[in-house]
This record gives sequence, C-alpha cells and structure tokens, in this order.
Amino acid sequence: MSRSNAAHRTVRDIDMIALAREYGTPLYVLSESSIEANYEHYRAALAAVYDDYLICYAVKANTTFAIIKLLSERGAGADVASEYELQIALDAGIPPAKIRANGNCKSDKYLTACIQLGIVINADPEAELAVIDELARELGAEAKVNLRLAGFPLASITAPAITTSSAWSKFGIPIRRAQAVFQQVVAREHLVPHGLMVHLGSQITDITAYQRVCETLISLAREANALGFAVHELNLGGGCGISYLNRDEWTAVKRAIADPQTVTTWANKPLGYNCAGDWESEELFCPFTPDRFIQQLFTERLSGGKSFKEHLEELGSPRVVIEPGRSIVGNAQVTVVQVGHVGTTPEGHNVVHVNAGVQLHSQNLIVPEQLHHVEIAGSTSESSERFETFIAGNLCFTGDLLYQIKYPLQGRPKRGDYLIIYDTGAYADFFAATTNSFPRPAKVLVTKSGETRLVVQREDVHGVFQRDLDWRAHSAARFGYQRPVEQ
Ligand SMILES: Cc1ncc(COP(=O)(O)O)c(C=O)c1O
Repeated sequence: MSRSNAAHRTVRDIDMIALAREYGTPLYVLSESSIEANYEHYRAALAAVYDDYLICYAVKANTTFAIIKLLSERGAGADVASEYELQIALDAGIPPAKIRANGNCKSDKYLTACIQLGIVINADPEAELAVIDELARELGAEAKVNLRLAGFPLASITAPAITTSSAWSKFGIPIRRAQAVFQQVVAREHLVPHGLMVHLGSQITDITAYQRVCETLISLAREANALGFAVHELNLGGGCGISYLNRDEWTAVKRAIADPQTVTTWANKPLGYNCAGDWESEELFCPFTPDRFIQQLFTERLSGGKSFKEHLEELGSPRVVIEPGRSIVGNAQVTVVQVGHVGTTPEGHNVVHVNAGVQLHSQNLIVPEQLHHVEIAGSTSESSERFETFIAGNLCFTGDLLYQIKYPLQGRPKRGDYLIIYDTGAYADFFAATTNSFPRPAKVLVTKSGETRLVVQREDVHGVFQRDLDWRAHSAARFGYQRPVEQ
C-alpha cells in the first residue's frame, strides 16, 4: 500500500489509530483495491500477449475468504496446498477446472477429492504418481497430472529457505528423471498426462531465472510430447517479487549489514551474506511489476533467439498457468501493532517492544533479513530525530524479533504508540498460532468504496483454549461456556 499521509496516521484515507482502537492490536488491514489492481495487472498483461492463460491465486499467501471470493469473482483460479485450502477455494466459488493442487505430502483425502472433482494435480514427488494411480483405480476414475519439476541449475535466486526448484529442494521430480517419468505416466492406466509445472521459489526479482527455466521447460515439453505425454499446460508457479523498500533504501541496508564498523543486525550477524561475502538471500527491491514481468517473460528473446511466446506457439500453444501469491496480496495489507516499551539490549542497542510476536509476522521466521517499511502512526514520538532500533515481539524467546536489522524510525516511540508495518499481505500469518496463549488477530478489509469491514475476527479466550477439552469442561462449569465438541 502507498505509505501514509503526512500526519502518519491514515492509509488509503483510513485512520489507522481509530481502527486499532476499534478492533484492538495487532491488527491486519487489507485493501480490496490493491488486490484487485494487482490481479488486473496480471490479467491485462497476459491477455495482451497470449490467449490461453490461467491465473491461480496461491491461497497460502493470505488465506482469507474475502480475498479468495474477490479474486474468484474476477475470474481467478486457485493454487491450493491442502484439502483445507481446496475447501475454501471451492467455497469461494472457484471452479475445479481452475484449481491446481500442490503439496509434497498430500493426504489420500486430498488426492481423492482432486480426482473426484477432476482437479489437475501437480504431482510431487515422483513416488506420488503410484499413489495417485492407485487411488484413481480404486475410484474407477482417471487423474490429471502435471509433473512438478526441480533440480534446475539456478544459483542463488532468493533466500535458500524459499528456493524450491534448485538442486537442494524438497519439492519436485528431478529434471534428470524427466524422460523416465514421462514414460511412467503414459504407462499408468489411471493417469492422464496434463502438463509440466515448476515453482522457482518466492520473492524472485531476477527475470532471467524464469527465462532459463522456461527454456528448459520448452525442451522438456518437446521430449514429453514425443514420448506420448501430451503437454496441454505449462505451469510456471508463483514467485514474482515485490518491492518492500525502494532501491536506495535497500542498497543502503545491504551496505550497512556488510560494514564491520557498525552494528546493524541482531548479534552482529552478517544476515543474508554467505561466508565468501556474497549476498545470498532475498532482494527486497524488485525492479519489475507483475505486468512488466509478464510482458518481458513472453516477449524477450531467449538464448536461441526466439521468445517464450514463439516457442509456445511452436508447441501448439499450451495453456500457461501462473500461481502468484505475494505479488497479488503482498502490498495490500499493513499490520498495526502497539508499542509496549522502548528499551535497550544489555549492550545498549535500542529495542522497541511491540504486542505482536513473530508468529504473526511470519516472514521473519523464514527469512530473518526480511524488512518492511514501518512508521509510527500519529507522530506522537518524543523526539523528531531518527531512532535506529530493533523491533521485538512479545513472546518468550529471544529469537522473537520482528526486525533483526535496525530500522530508522522517524522518532523515538513511546508506550501506547502504534506502528504501521507495511506490505505484510503475504505470509504474515502463515505461522499464526496462539503462542504464549495470545489470540490470533483480526483482519479488517478496506473496501473499494472506502468502507471498513471486519472480515476475520480476533480470537477470544475461548478461541485460544477451546481445543483443550478439560479446560472447556471446567470453563463450562464456571462461565457457562458450552460450545459443542466437534467430531
Ligand atoms: C507451488 C506454489 N505456487 C505458488 C506459490 C506462491 O508463491 P509467491 O507467493 O511467491 O507468488 C507458492 C508459494 O511458495 C507455491 O509453493
């Protein structure tokens, strides 16, 4: 979302302090217009270059019914990663034909539902093919499969924890096994070859990584077709990056981390750098937007001189599927948290303590060097000098840090101030849990007409403890709490 106005309290004309007071903090605030605009950029760019495409929103990025419904109404499909994500996608009205089923350890229940509904399964790993074939046989049905591939010779394209297509990946069928697997699928009675799939990873900011993978996919598709595995679809997964900081801000952060004279990172670790001193993590500035990404990917010449689009046409124009998550919702949400204390570490480094643990800002659990623009809402700070600080959550472990890189706040905050953390729409509540028995936060949607609507409610004490049956029995006796036990 665009950064707040000069008074540092409104985002998209909505007063963040008023919202925080009404709904409590931590609070996620989503923008319907931003989500719609991001989707529309993809759609228009694809429609301009290629006829047969499908955009499947990666439901895991922000699993909120209002978002999935909005995208469903715009014509989007869904990438789902469990039977539960499948359920919410179907509930939001996404037709099975527009759903792609992912996951490297799918349950029989999930696979069965996909087979019965005719949903294309991105098979992963190779051993899953036999499982799908057997389940389809038992159901007297056929299962459509894409082969999710990995083992591409890609150097560092994003943080290792979210690189999902290189040599060290728990996902996918190794490309060196491709021919044998094409033959295997063709030979299995209950499998119907559908296409090839790859998901490079997340927060990819180098388009050439996609281009190299697309070249390989094109030649694999040719081989597959020749072996009787008809490729109707090339699924490029998600991964398109977004900008969390502008180019200069990000360059300065990387330079500061590398500078041995200053303590910029928690425990002075060279976060993001490998031992050779090379950057080996996410880039938090992305030089392209979804529309430019699509335009370049389809039209720029690849190494053989032809564009991806021309190669696709030679292949008979298979459907191109993309599964964007972060680039649809990432910049469409802010998190509002409240400051409890401003203190220092024993060595004297500033720490702002806020009322949200890192489980509610989950990207930092996956990639510690993740950084977001953050502002004090309302400029109630005591001094107007920049205040370089780490930001810690409220959980009982030292690693509970929302910012492991010092961030220059616009002033020193004080207890009770609210901080607005920007661009938290993707994967912020990915690991949301009731850690330390804190409730999971509410989500408020700012609608296109500028109204606010509570779309996810904050948990109450019952929500936090309801799975504990003895607590339920006890609280039912004491407080009259009598929710039925779900089977
Ligand atoms: C298979 C698959 N597709 C799509 C996505 C979405 O990726 P992103 O949010 O980076 O676009 C993911 C997330 O990692 C994924 O695992």
